[in-house]
Amino acid sequence: MSKKNDLRKSVDFLQSKIGTAPEALIVLGSGLGEVAEELESKVCIPYKEIPHFGISTAPGHAGKLYAGKLNGKNVLCMQGRLHIYEGYSPEEASYPVRVASMLGASRLVLTCACGGVNIDYSVGELIMLKDYINMTHTGPLVGMDVSDFDTRFIDMSFSFDRDYITLARSEARKLGISLGTGVYFYMPGPQLETPAEIRAIRNLGGDLVGMSVVHEVIMARRLGMRVAGFALVTNMAAGILDIPLSEEEIFTEGRKAREVFGRLLAAFVGNMN
Ligand code: HPA
Repeated sequence: MSKKNDLRKSVDFLQSKIGTAPEALIVLGSGLGEVAEELESKVCIPYKEIPHFGISTAPGHAGKLYAGKLNGKNVLCMQGRLHIYEGYSPEEASYPVRVASMLGASRLVLTCACGGVNIDYSVGELIMLKDYINMTHTGPLVGMDVSDFDTRFIDMSFSFDRDYITLARSEARKLGISLGTGVYFYMPGPQLETPAEIRAIRNLGGDLVGMSVVHEVIMARRLGMRVAGFALVTNMAAGILDIPLSEEEIFTEGRKAREVFGRLLAAFVGNMN
């Protein structure tokens, strides 16, 4: 369980390093981490130096927190996230969201690599998340001390902020970037899915499959943060192309999308309310 004094220690430490309060936390997923290096006036803090913060062990997740400016906005940027498949509980995986909220961030901008389940998608495409499906039946709020809140049962009807979806699509249009929308299906991993699982996910309404995002969204909504989710289709999900999937493919696509993705993210962040 995350204790309030653990959170206080993480927050006090970060306040002593970053100065200005962040307006948003940006989480950079597999292969997308280099975007953090584009921040202006940045400070870089390895997760391992932050009291009570988890350490990123996933490949392509550097485990560094950046504070700086992106297109005029003060942001915190996580180069790599914490996943359940690394052994973190949902509460631990979403701990950085709590810390960012306590530091003043009222927005969460998530990015992730995903498998494309919707056969209309193609590899390299960027998709704006409009909803998610969490069939793991657990999440970061299970057992959480709710004494600071007025309700335990938070509404998830608008988990991904509708105005942010509109803004992202409008910024993408201006930049000549195609940006569809889709439903994220959460699988805990770390094994990739079977073709039968992917067929089931499609029948259940999933457009994309991935191993992150959902616990961060739930925690952010608990804390009243506005959430945007950008997904990159790094591969078509298992069974669609009848070829084996590789971890390498996932990172290669992430790196290839870096430039386009960086431009879209900067335009979005610069214009978000
Ligand atoms: N499945 C789950 N997570 C992923 C995938 C996938 O096919 N690609 C990138 N992240």
